[in-house]
This record gives sequence, C-alpha cells and structure tokens, in this order.
Amino acid sequence: MDTTPEDPSQMPTEHRVALLSRSDRPFHVILAQQFDRELIQTLCRLAERVRAIAETRQGANFLRTLLSHKRAMLYFTQPSTRTFLSFAAACQVIGLSNNEVRDSSTSSEVKGESEEDTIHVLSQYFDVIIMRHPGEGFAELMAHRLNQMRRSIPIINGGSGKDQHPTQALLDIYTLHRCFSRLGSDGMIHQFEDNPFAGKTIAFVGDLLRGRTVRSLVYLLCRYPGVRLLFVAPDELQIQEDILEYAQRYNITHECPSSLPSVISECDAVYMTRLQDEHDTAGESKAIDYDRFRLDLDMKDKFKPHLAILHPLPRRNELDVRLDTDPRAKYWEQVRNGMWARAALLAYVFNVDAAIIDHHQSHYSY
Ligand code: CP
Repeated sequence: MDTTPEDPSQMPTEHRVALLSRSDRPFHVILAQQFDRELIQTLCRLAERVRAIAETRQGANFLRTLLSHKRAMLYFTQPSTRTFLSFAAACQVIGLSNNEVRDSSTSSEVKGESEEDTIHVLSQYFDVIIMRHPGEGFAELMAHRLNQMRRSIPIINGGSGKDQHPTQALLDIYTLHRCFSRLGSDGMIHQFEDNPFAGKTIAFVGDLLRGRTVRSLVYLLCRYPGVRLLFVAPDELQIQEDILEYAQRYNITHECPSSLPSVISECDAVYMTRLQDEHDTAGESKAIDYDRFRLDLDMKDKFKPHLAILHPLPRRNELDVRLDTDPRAKYWEQVRNGMWARAALLAYVFNVDAAIIDHHQSHYSY
C-alpha cells in the first residue's frame, strides 16, 4: 500500500524529520529542522577536519579514497553557481564521481516523462541525488517516494523554491563559527565552543519573505540559546510569521527594526540578501524602497570591530563592493566554506565520518 503523504509539509515537523532519518542520523537532507545543535557542531567540526586534511597531498589522496566507489547526481533544474559548483567540488574532495542534469529540456521530460519518473531513473544509476528544484515540497516528496522503493538512495536539498536551503544554512553557521572562534596560527579552529552565539546580535537584512537561505539559517540559530535575531526588511518583504513563531517557541529574542542604519552598531553579524524579484507575479518589487536595506561603505564608522558581514550571494547593489576588501567581509570565505561543509555533510550521510576523525586524530594534535 502506498502510504507516501502527498503533502509532507502538513505533517508535524518531528514526524517529517523521523521519516527522513535512518539509524538516528539524516538519510535524506531536506529540512534545516533536521539539524539539532549536536549535529551542527559535529558537521562543523568535520568540515574543519576535512579542510585540514585536504591541505596536504597525502591527506587529499586519503580523502579521495573514501567514496571512490559511489556516484552522485547533481539534478539542478533551477539556476545555480555556488551550490552546484561547491557540491561538485565537495564530491571531488571525498572521491565521489558526479554527473549532472541542469536543463530538463535535454532530458526525456520533453517526451512527456514525469519529473518523478526521472528521479526514479536517476536513482538506478547513482548513489545520491543532490537536487535544486523550484517546487517547495518536491525534494521531500521524492525522498518519501524513494523510501518505498527497493533501491532507496539519499536526496539532498540544494534549494527548494522559496522554502528551504539547508546546506546553505550549514555553511553559513560554519562560517559564523569560524568568525566567532579563536583560530590557531594554521587558520583552524582547535577548540569548538558549544555556543559561540550566546550574547551575539545577528541581523538578517533585505528580502526576508522570499529568502530560503534566511529561513533555513534561522532554524539552525534557534538551537543556540542567548542569540538575538534582528529581521530588517521592508514591510512588504518581512519574514513570515511561521519563522517568528519558531523563534518564539525556542525563546529566541527577536525584533523587526525598520532600517539598517538604526541598528548596524549593535550587530555582531549582518546577513545581507538581495531582492528576490524573480518571485514577483506582477513586478510588485519595483515599488519597494530597498535603499534602506543596503550595507554601504559610509556606515563603516558604526561597525563593531569584529562585525562579520555575510551574504549567500548572488548580490546586486545591496552590498557595497567597496566593502569587499574590509577584513569584516566574510562572504568570499563563506563561498569556500560551502565546499568543506558540503564535503563533511556527504561524508556524514555516507557514514565515512569516523574514518575522517581517525585520520585527523592520528595526524594532528587538536
Ligand atoms: N547561495 C546560493 O545558493 O547560490 P547559487 O544560487 O549560485 O547556488
């Protein structure tokens, strides 16, 4: 009997998370709510270890043996630069060979094959499907469908409509960890703090209504008691009520200030986002005054000395290019961190994390 729910989002979150897990760890990675603090910390530590090991030729060769018997499919039917390329690079780091579908007009979907059948076909050739898709529930629905098949492989969500981008949130929180931790002379975190975000103010700025990276990162930050979140957005593009309720449920202090200049001096981190007008239905974004939600070089005097400036990218003019060389600009490091975080996640999903930890412990003193 087919028990796959047609709309998994209607189920309680705990139930959704359980259905995506096997042996108490994520099998599919679809929702940011799958990451509790322990798992976030585990994956950030693992990313740091992969990064350290990959520094040497011998270490890089070791990493490439880990999954050399597995194949990944990058099924990206929405445009992407960073997520696609960082997953491709992450696959190379840990030895996963990979293939891609980026344009379904070159697939048999043009002959009328359903996307669902396409995913079933891909699951016969590959060992994991990394998916970017415009449909909000498609990756989760396909995860449930594959759970019912004899050959069931993990699906990893690389961005689902306006809803979620859990692996971006993972690389964002890894970046924040690196910003708020003491780094050794080798540029690595030697000691991970349990909660480096307690007492910190983090502002999300811009189009928060349609920004899936913001939604997913808030889910992760709510695992850190004592963090204070600011949602700085035009009224028309303010974060959705379900996210505010989630923050409330976790007792996370949050406010919705009306402009960035009024709060920038309080921020320890600022997460800029562009206007997501590709989601407009009738050009409604044109009427919105987005200038109050721009981070400008002129505001530099108000920045805290250790402010971390993040942006998931791509950007337009909401983030002044003249800030690119300021040491507080972390968005290029954020891009590189995506490769390490995604390599760590893939290693974890395929249960080769213990081999990485063993290798690290036998070669490094921290
Ligand atoms: N940040 C991000 O998801 O970028 P891409 O859309 O280029 O993958």
